[in-house]
Amino acid sequence: MTIYRMKNYDDMSRKAASIFYAQLTLNPRSVLGLATGSTPLGIYRQLIEWHRKGDLDFSDCVSINLDEYKDLPPEHPQSYFYFMRQNLFKHINIKPENSYLPDSMAEDAQRECARYDAVIEQSGGIDLQLLGLGHNGHIGFNEPGRFFEKGTHVVTLADSTIEANKRFFESIDDVPRQAITMGIRCIMQARRIVVAVSGEAKAEAVKACFQGPVTPEVPGSILQLHDNVTLVGDEEALSLLDL
Ligand code: GLP
Repeated sequence: MTIYRMKNYDDMSRKAASIFYAQLTLNPRSVLGLATGSTPLGIYRQLIEWHRKGDLDFSDCVSINLDEYKDLPPEHPQSYFYFMRQNLFKHINIKPENSYLPDSMAEDAQRECARYDAVIEQSGGIDLQLLGLGHNGHIGFNEPGRFFEKGTHVVTLADSTIEANKRFFESIDDVPRQAITMGIRCIMQARRIVVAVSGEAKAEAVKACFQGPVTPEVPGSILQLHDNVTLVGDEEALSLLDL
């Protein structure tokens, strides 16, 4: 595993974005696994800036997002569909038909999960997957549990996740209780993974994921078994690691 210990959030964002820059430059047809949350915002801003300068072209790439809240319509400002549009897609030249998110409104959620797994497979697999970490060590919306869920699945969000994500909603009651998320197998099959972390509040999750036991109780700990992971964090987020 490669670890980049950056001074602050902006440096972390630029470094993580530069890995996407390299990936797209070497292979403009890359399949990018994308993430939501506050952490990737700086990365997306940087990618948009490079695109505006004419240095990055997204016209041939494919994006596949990790997850989506269940039963939150795409036009809802807190849906991940909306997030991706506002914070990345509308500013770059990715083709709408080449960017995928789980359909949160699908009537048959199980079928939607199977469809999403097929999308990933038919794309040829993810070349570069971006991940953030939940405070409880979740990746995507793979919550702590007794086993690793492999494929795309419906998940009931942990209370701590609902608590952490309530900041985006009017009240805690408005936070969806369920989501559709890519499973651990899809994530682990990505050819390269970049984990972006920032801030002291993530320090324990980072320690548990990268220097603790590999256990489904800390879903991100599975990343220790992947042979091409780059952890990019600021000093605060990496402060508990033995480096
Ligand atoms: C959500 C997303 C995750 C993300 C996590 C951390 O739960 N499903 O993909 O990594 O939040 O978000 P933040 O970066 O805002 O701390």
